[in-house]
Amino acid sequence: MLLLGIESSCDDTAAAVWEDGTVRASVVSSQADLHEEYGGVVPELASRNHQRLIVPVVQQALTEAGVDAEALDAVAVTYGPGLPGSLLVGVSFAKAFARGLNVPLIGVNHLEGHVYSVDLEPPRPDRPFVCLVASGGHTELVHVDEGFRHEVLGRTRDDAAGEAFDKVAQLFGLGYPGGPDIDRHAESGDPTFHDFPRSRLDDLDFSFSGLKTSVLYFLRDRSDAERERLLDDHLDDLCAAVQAAVVDVLVDAVRRALDETEAEEVAVVGGVAANSELRRRMEGLGHDEGVGVSTPDLAYCMDNAAMIAQAGAQRLAAGHASPRTLDADSNLQL
Ligand code: KG4
Ligand code: ZN
Repeated sequence: MLLLGIESSCDDTAAAVWEDGTVRASVVSSQADLHEEYGGVVPELASRNHQRLIVPVVQQALTEAGVDAEALDAVAVTYGPGLPGSLLVGVSFAKAFARGLNVPLIGVNHLEGHVYSVDLEPPRPDRPFVCLVASGGHTELVHVDEGFRHEVLGRTRDDAAGEAFDKVAQLFGLGYPGGPDIDRHAESGDPTFHDFPRSRLDDLDFSFSGLKTSVLYFLRDRSDAERERLLDDHLDDLCAAVQAAVVDVLVDAVRRALDETEAEEVAVVGGVAANSELRRRMEGLGHDEGVGVSTPDLAYCMDNAAMIAQAGAQRLAAGHASPRTLDADSNLQL
């Protein structure tokens, strides 16, 4: 089974060629530099750039894989959730491409793509497993069982974990997206430098807006000179303290989800799963609780099309091809 995967839900244009469980090529063209000066993704700019990049990115994936388009058995594409104008570019392209090749089209939920990114490389976690999907747009705890049975155990009520990193990074004067910068600075920082709030809700939902506000007040309550000195002398410590607060909240919720579901496997996926402290803490949790922990390769944590092909292949095998009339759905839920 040879599949082309396409992903364009936010600001990355991505295509991948997947064959029988092996990724033969995965191309991601990030627009992060373009959006950096605005401190976030500008939807109109994103869709225009997807439009410009989609053909060359797909072409590059086919070339890198050494595959002729005519050899493809199916096309899988993200059809939601995401930015409407961005999704439409990938969906329209995939519909036309699949029709031209006369092969099945498989619409994939972006979050499902992140969930099934854990199956891209062995060991594949046994079902059922608890999956933390933590990215710039989403923070969800999902119970995943065979047959695409997904139960959402909790989700964020306001900001996503990655969004919290990105907003705080902006307050610290770091680049966009800020998660990787915070991770890097935190490496040599002292996480106990300041005790930022950890919101623990009664259920398995998350809330990260309080953390962002608390960092804002922490900086605002100082003179300009004092703030400048603090950011010069203690940026690493501040990053470590913020990272510790986010990671504590995520790991605590995963622990409670494991208790609640009695699952014996856990996976962490999405851009925030690239965070080194979260990966370390999840390893520790796996050890303490005696559960298996899966995290995708770093390249498959961020948005990519290999995960879309992986989920699409599993959907196709289960007989879930999409109609030719597939439409983008920006508010699609798991
Ligand atoms: O999955 P992803 O590429 O796109 C979405 O679906 O949102 O996730 C991007 C998010 C950004 O918020 C980024 O700051 C965060 O993942 N991120 C990280 C790290 N690498 C990426 N956050 C913390 N630590 C990292 N190392
Ligand atoms: Zn994503």
